[in-house]
Amino acid sequence: AAGGALAGKHVLVTSGPTHEPIDPVRYIANRSSGKQGHAIAAAAARAGARVTLVSGPVNLPDPAGVEVRRVETAREMLAAVEAALPADAAVFAAAVADWRVAAEAGQKLKKDGNAIPPLALTENPDILAGIARRVAGRPRLVIGFAAETQNVIAHAQAKLARKGCDWILANDVSQDGGDQSGIPGGVMGADRNAVHLVSAAGVEDWPTASKAEVARRLVDRIAEALDRQETL
Ligand code: C5P
Repeated sequence: AAGGALAGKHVLVTSGPTHEPIDPVRYIANRSSGKQGHAIAAAAARAGARVTLVSGPVNLPDPAGVEVRRVETAREMLAAVEAALPADAAVFAAAVADWRVAAEAGQKLKKDGNAIPPLALTENPDILAGIARRVAGRPRLVIGFAAETQNVIAHAQAKLARKGCDWILANDVSQDGGDQSGIPGGVMGADRNAVHLVSAAGVEDWPTASKAEVARRLVDRIAEALDRQETL
């Protein structure tokens, strides 16, 4: 894809969940198929970018033409993201676990007697906020995601400010994602997604589209913004 809209650019994408171990056989995780993040990595590669995809555990094939770094935990994801910098644009589509178990057990916890083990949690690093707040080596365009069930725009604007990123792609997960599963919040693992692009400059409402279409549209907007040396 030499000569594509993102030729000569390095795009970094996070995707999938993280798994935070409790013991060697158990973990804490968010629900995430990785479909949207993988679609963005694939679309960026098709647009001619060099793409690094840092992915948690997913059941998806590696997108064509993409350098994939597989990780399990949030801390591993952060380390892989930092190792992949510098990048022109970074898209944080992963569903990172907010907490991990403070003291991972080295051996499988046993169901002995009646004692239920307590799980003390500790906070994980916020990968998006950490990269967006960097002074040196900050990608020119830092993009986060927000899944909301109400006040989608207001929450996305608050998240934009809190994280220090340039754009938030806000998903309304209150409705069926158009996958006709009939399941509220059907966007999780579904193929369709209602999205708003929220930036300091305003809000763009995107039509409900497949995750592949959302990815193509986002890649087009990234290419435009990098060309104009602007953020929106
Ligand atoms: O704070 P919240 O999880 O709602 O923000 C979602 C956005 O932040 C997503 O883009 C997600 O990939 C990113 N994030 C992250 N590291 C975390 C938590 C969220 O990069 N620990």
